[in-house]
Amino acid sequence: MHVNTRDLPSKDSCPKSGELFSTIVGYNDVKKIFGLSFTSQKPVHILLVGPPASAKTLFMLECMKLERSYFTLGSHSTRSGMLEYLFEKRPRYLIVDEIEHMGIKDQTALLSLMETGILSETKFQKTRNTQLKTWVFATSNGTNRMLTPLLSRFITLHFKQYKFDNFHEVASHMLVHEGVGSELASKIANAVWWKMKSKDIRDCLKIGRLAKSEQDVDWIVDTFKNYR
Ligand SMILES: Nc1ncnc2c1ncn2[C@@H]1O[C@H](COP(=O)(O)OP(=O)(O)O)[C@@H](O)[C@H]1O
Ligand SMILES: [Mg+2]
Repeated sequence: MHVNTRDLPSKDSCPKSGELFSTIVGYNDVKKIFGLSFTSQKPVHILLVGPPASAKTLFMLECMKLERSYFTLGSHSTRSGMLEYLFEKRPRYLIVDEIEHMGIKDQTALLSLMETGILSETKFQKTRNTQLKTWVFATSNGTNRMLTPLLSRFITLHFKQYKFDNFHEVASHMLVHEGVGSELASKIANAVWWKMKSKDIRDCLKIGRLAKSEQDVDWIVDTFKNYR
């Protein structure tokens, strides 16, 4: 059997998924799926779909730590020369954040790469081909804008909107990590969810950076509401 050593993972390129994703709260089952995919013999492509602030990009950022990985934003894939990079550098992991914004030409190239490992590009009436072993990890806010055949090449995991308990846990964890005391962190999470009626963890971070006390939290939330 012919084995292309370029396509074999080096020791460091397969870190345990627990270590890799340690900054992500919860999602232990998703972390495990990624871990299994890192060590699979043949590529298994994973797509994370879900509402804003559900940690999709965070998973991609962690995957960027893998050796021989290449990260691109879907909306930038053409301009940043994704196909060129694939031909030249032959990454093992292709990471695409917000893949729904990827141009049709790049989406089409991925169809064949993901199914057969054949990468093909036609430019100025010349076609070039190569065989690649590349895992694709991607995120999307929704699936409407994606080609159906592209979707079917992924294992798609749908992240749900956080319920209050998850929201509180994740927000508190992040705020404490940013140096906010745990009581103030809890106050912020409660105020954002119940008073601001926001489910976006990012709002907790914004307030966490401004507020020095519990009174500050109430005042900032009221002000945000007045100017909405
Ligand atoms: N489960 C989580 N663990 C740690 N941080 C989280 C989690 N969920 C959301 N966040 C934080 O919320 C913010 C938004 O996350 P992000 O991954 O950019 O969301 P998405 O890409 O789904 O819109 C980031 O600052 C991220 O660190
Ligand atoms: Mg994102």
